[in-house]
Amino acid sequence: AQNAKESLYIVSQFAASFFVKQLWETDEGRGIGLSYFKERGFREDILKKFEVGYSPDVWDAMTQSAVNSGHKLEFLEQTGLSIKNDNGKIYDRFRGRVMFPIHNFTGRVIGFGGRTLKTDKNVPKYVNSPESEIYHKSNVLYGLFHAKKAIRDLDNCYLAEGYADVLSVHQAGIENVVASSGTSLTVEQIKLIGRFTQNVTILFDGDAAGIKASLRGLDMILEEGLNVKIVSFPDGHDPDSYMHHVGAGAFKTYIEDNRKDFILYKANVLLKEAGNDPIKRAGIIRDIVESIAKIPDPIKASVFIRESSSLLEIEERILLTELNKMRSAKS
Ligand code: CTP
Ligand code: MN
Ligand code: MN
Ligand code: MN
Ligand code: MN
Repeated sequence: AQNAKESLYIVSQFAASFFVKQLWETDEGRGIGLSYFKERGFREDILKKFEVGYSPDVWDAMTQSAVNSGHKLEFLEQTGLSIKNDNGKIYDRFRGRVMFPIHNFTGRVIGFGGRTLKTDKNVPKYVNSPESEIYHKSNVLYGLFHAKKAIRDLDNCYLAEGYADVLSVHQAGIENVVASSGTSLTVEQIKLIGRFTQNVTILFDGDAAGIKASLRGLDMILEEGLNVKIVSFPDGHDPDSYMHHVGAGAFKTYIEDNRKDFILYKANVLLKEAGNDPIKRAGIIRDIVESIAKIPDPIKASVFIRESSSLLEIEERILLTELNKMRSAKS
């Protein structure tokens, strides 16, 4: 019901404010959480803008504080912020982590991502809120509330993987950025971007997983009829690490100068994989045409066929035959 939902929003906002207070106003928060953010190079104004926080390393600090302020356990449990164990004891989901509140695009807090400060590989790097009445992961883009105006104004949306990436790209002065955050990109997320712009620029991590996600993501974006470009980062960097590595100014220049359209990007990635193997190289052509076949607008598709023809040095006619074969196979 509408009222129950409202109660979930209210406890989520309570928790967000609690974590912010812990970060800035307690010894543990400042000594551990804030120092952590500072060591990573985040500016205070960015930390405040995104309302990041700290969850104390105590069994049930947040739950206690919420209940003492009159919030119902029932709603805390429904958001996943509080968990009841088998013995009926209540504890906090997030403990001893730096906290990233997740806002919906109207700005209400609907969930959290909590990052561990430990380097122990057995501890999950991020703990996230579970699905709830107000939080449906696959429909949410992290940072959209803070980015939507810039996305509209600049008519482009940068799409990154993670929370830290969004903060760092903002810190570099680029505000039109969101993250799929963990879930592999969904059609719903792409449609959500499509409400603000038709142009997406992928900024995924420069590791194997990020490249794989970029190839999958670009096909999905094309299939939704949006335009897609890709910026890749060297040496396994992600946007966050690269921004802090080269500095804000150089970062901004880098992503402006290194946007590749999807054909060039795919050709680069696949040619690197194929090496000199002629059969593999032939497969690349088919692979690229396969992406073009996903574009609903035939006029746009024909422009990309022409580009591929000159890039791959293959007659346009051959590519068009291939394209038509794929299109008729699909329908
Ligand atoms: N993620 C997650 N759970 C994990 C790992 C990742 O939910 N165990 C999500 C987070 O939203 C994370 C994003 O996937 O931000 C990208 O993952 P990764 O690149 O591994 O983390 P970073 O965002 O680079 O985190 P950091 O810079 O803090 O190390
Ligand atoms: Mn807020
Ligand atoms: Mn990664
Ligand atoms: Mn990353
Ligand atoms: Mn990172």
